[in-house]
Amino acid sequence: MELTKEKQPAMDQLQDKAQLWNHALGFIRSMSFKCAIELGISDVLHNHGKPITLSELATFLSIPPSKTPALGSLMRLLVHSGVFASHPQQGGGEEEGYFLTPTSELLVKEEKACVSPFALLILNWTMLVPGHQLGEWFMAGAAAETPFDMAHGKGIFGETNVRADFNELFNEAMASDARLVTEVALLQRQWEMLRGVRSVVDVGGGTGTVAKSIAKALPEVRCMVLDLPHVVATMDEEQREGVEFIGGDMFEHIPPADAVLLKWILHDWSDEHCIKILKHCKEAIPTKKDGGKVIIIDMVVGVTTDISISVESQLIFDMEMMILTPGKERSEIEWKRLFHAAGFSDYKITPSMGLRSVIELYN
Ligand SMILES: C[S@@+](CC[C@H](N)C(=O)[O-])C[C@H]1O[C@@H](n2cnc3c(N)ncnc32)[C@H](O)[C@@H]1O
Repeated sequence: MELTKEKQPAMDQLQDKAQLWNHALGFIRSMSFKCAIELGISDVLHNHGKPITLSELATFLSIPPSKTPALGSLMRLLVHSGVFASHPQQGGGEEEGYFLTPTSELLVKEEKACVSPFALLILNWTMLVPGHQLGEWFMAGAAAETPFDMAHGKGIFGETNVRADFNELFNEAMASDARLVTEVALLQRQWEMLRGVRSVVDVGGGTGTVAKSIAKALPEVRCMVLDLPHVVATMDEEQREGVEFIGGDMFEHIPPADAVLLKWILHDWSDEHCIKILKHCKEAIPTKKDGGKVIIIDMVVGVTTDISISVESQLIFDMEMMILTPGKERSEIEWKRLFHAAGFSDYKITPSMGLRSVIELYN
């Protein structure tokens, strides 16, 4: 049947409507992903070692038979969105066989670079609730610093201070990210940029994953971590081995060192906050001629190592920072403005960490 001119706009609207539904229901992708992590589906697929049928998967997960069709729907969406893969079973059986993709290998618990702790933090109630307040926050003027503050009455690091469970979840999520970053840094011989320095302080270095990796690669370098007292207090003597942990506030003082590392710190803070932190860094290090440098690991919007890693992910991170913190993801021009305002004259950006770059900053 040929469509008349009047009917065509309505057909287009159906398409538009489907697109808008997809936007509205996008959170279902996140919730299904979270569910897969909580059920441990990746671990079952990994341990099975070959494609697994739906009924086998349900048995391994101890899911009652009445819910096997629901598990089928979950797997169908996760295969469609590229988390898992499937193909028809050999021998022409009716059931599909599910298996891991290189991406979902990163959800396996025993993987050193397992992404699950980070995903479970991002999809935790405490982190999700502030998103509902974004519109209200826009209209509230300067009254509330962040949607997170509006939802919880304090900032994210105030929350880690008063809730041991959230502190643990947050620190483990950061450590899981740091494990992959340090692996990449070692492969790329990134710590060579620290060869010759006598000391390095990882500011906001959490539970010390990065500092420990540097201490191992360059045993002659004195490695320190500065973090909030309630983060440092979670570390026992054995966990502190090889690194000095200092409980303090980077807005007050940064211990003197030849090099300062700021991994995933500045995107948590407003320009004013960042300039304050960077000025303290400047006071802490010697000049470029005497080997002083600041190393920043953070995103530069529009810069990634691989075009298949989309700028959209950086823009989503930017919105996440807006919801959770007074910070943002910055373009090179915005970074440059910060560096100049803090009194630094020279910087170099190396896009070597996927969505993130390594920025060297000199006095
Ligand atoms: C996003 S996390 C990054 C952790 C770590 N650098 C990493 O990337 O794995 C920010 C860190 O900054 C710390 N932090 C927040 N405010 C701080 C302050 N005023 N002084 C020192 N550390 C602070 C937090 O406790 C947390 O460990």
